[in-house]
Amino acid sequence: MSSLEKADRLRALRAEAFAGGGEDKIRKQHEKGKLTARERIDLLLDDESFEEFDMLVTHRSTSFGLDKQRIPGDGVVTGYGTIDGRQVYVFSHDFTVLGGSLSETFAEKILKIMDMAAMNGAPLIGLNDSGGARIQEGIESLAGYGKIFLKNVLYSGVIPQISAILGPCAGGAVYSPAITDFTIMVKDTSYMFVTGPTVVKAVTGENVTKEQLGGPAIHSKRSGVCSLVCDDEEEAILLIRKLISYIPQNNMEDPIRVPCLDPPDRKELWLDEFVPDNPNKPYEMRRVIEAITDNGEYLEIQRSYAPNIIVAFARMNGRSVGLVANQPSYLAGVLDNDASIKAARFVRFCDAFNIPVVTLVDVPGFMPGTAQEYAGIIRNGAKLLFAYAEATVPKITVIIRKAYGGAYDVMSSKHIRADINYAWPTAEIAVMGPDGAVEIIFRRDIDEAKDPDGRKRELVEQYRERFANPYDAASRGYLDDVIIPSNTRFRVIKALEMLAGKRQVIPPKKHGNIPL
Ligand code: HXC
Repeated sequence: MSSLEKADRLRALRAEAFAGGGEDKIRKQHEKGKLTARERIDLLLDDESFEEFDMLVTHRSTSFGLDKQRIPGDGVVTGYGTIDGRQVYVFSHDFTVLGGSLSETFAEKILKIMDMAAMNGAPLIGLNDSGGARIQEGIESLAGYGKIFLKNVLYSGVIPQISAILGPCAGGAVYSPAITDFTIMVKDTSYMFVTGPTVVKAVTGENVTKEQLGGPAIHSKRSGVCSLVCDDEEEAILLIRKLISYIPQNNMEDPIRVPCLDPPDRKELWLDEFVPDNPNKPYEMRRVIEAITDNGEYLEIQRSYAPNIIVAFARMNGRSVGLVANQPSYLAGVLDNDASIKAARFVRFCDAFNIPVVTLVDVPGFMPGTAQEYAGIIRNGAKLLFAYAEATVPKITVIIRKAYGGAYDVMSSKHIRADINYAWPTAEIAVMGPDGAVEIIFRRDIDEAKDPDGRKRELVEQYRERFANPYDAASRGYLDDVIIPSNTRFRVIKALEMLAGKRQVIPPKKHGNIPL
């Protein structure tokens, strides 16, 4: 064979790999509103930056006629490239090849880039569109998933791992994303389930649609599996680029600092009268976030799950921060099971990747009642406490209004190693809110009064006067200062700058035992 013929042979093999499952399957993929594996990579990475590995890998199975379906690349495109000039590693499932199902060799391709990403300290991005373990391969595909799960776990907290779910993903194709740091889904085309509706029907007899079983609405509102929901694939992929901009390459680096044109000392005078005089009146915490962050911009994670707490990435004077904020306009910003879990996981991500945590507090306490107790509010609330207490990144807390009871301690108080604790003059810090408190400590006094309601009102007022302010805490040094609300952006930025070189250690141990 001549050199030219040899080159032609390579071109033909490459063309075969590029064709994936063939024209028909690609057309079907497009008809469903989905892009192909390679189109997704093109959208994700900087132009011309993608370098592919293992395009010529084929599976080794001969069972169930698989030997007649051997396509170079074997249903997954892997390699590396850049996002805004920063290196990342990518794998992208090709649903047109056997439903993107995972074979032994498919797994080996992914494992190779996982190891490279960890060795070179760069984020790993998975574009998932797969029916899970390739059923025809049996144990080999299960072993492949097991090895991927292991690497997901070993590299968790070492390199950021981001998963986009861009089709009906089942089995291992959802467990691996579940271990990663963020999971992005797309309305109408992406689904996540342990097993699909056909198998559900066969095993349990339950009739359920893909949407009902594991659509984005379920996972963003109820299960909490999904971090971000997008309208289409393009938005999802561009959101990955945005997310990457807030986080560092690995756990040994800081996030990149970007030039900031928004003045650090920008004052928002309206904040001085923003908190309502009536302590039971809600307000929108996002307005405070917009007032203090660079250009009022932030990227909210798990927006629809436990909306009583907000978690978001933002920048302050060009530095990335993780924001955790109670949301008084939803369930009065109470800490319940879901809110505790949501915030705990976010704080742990920030801590793992050197992102300072800024906490805005307006919390009436932990949600009382049987529903919450039975669902484990003690265990779940403890997760958030644990996450804040073990975090060694800079921690800055601003108490906007209520900080009651255990929730005061948990929401990054001084007592669990927050570095800088500020409060607005509107802060109320006490063991519990005035109504509950007087019912307990003055019950007899109220019962025996001629006018119990009037007496209760009087006692509530006295209690409020005594405790519903920040000055008791400030007099003990539990607050570093009571600040003017309009100056919050400047004060937090100054604190972040002061803490930029923070080094803090935890006692040597294998790992803690967070109450999972
Ligand atoms: C082999 C598969 C496959 C699989 C899909 N295909 N899933 N081939 N192994 N796991 C093939 C189909 O046979 C079909 O091939 C093509 O992919 C497209 O699939 P369709 O069913 O036509 O597509 P759609 O209707 O969109 O449904 C997609 C789906 C469904 C919801 C993913 O295919 C499905 O339910 N698959 C099984 C999912 C599942 O139970 N996986 C769990 C595996 S166990 P043709 O040739 O007809 O186009 C697992 C364990 C890991 O992953 C460990 C966990 C801890």
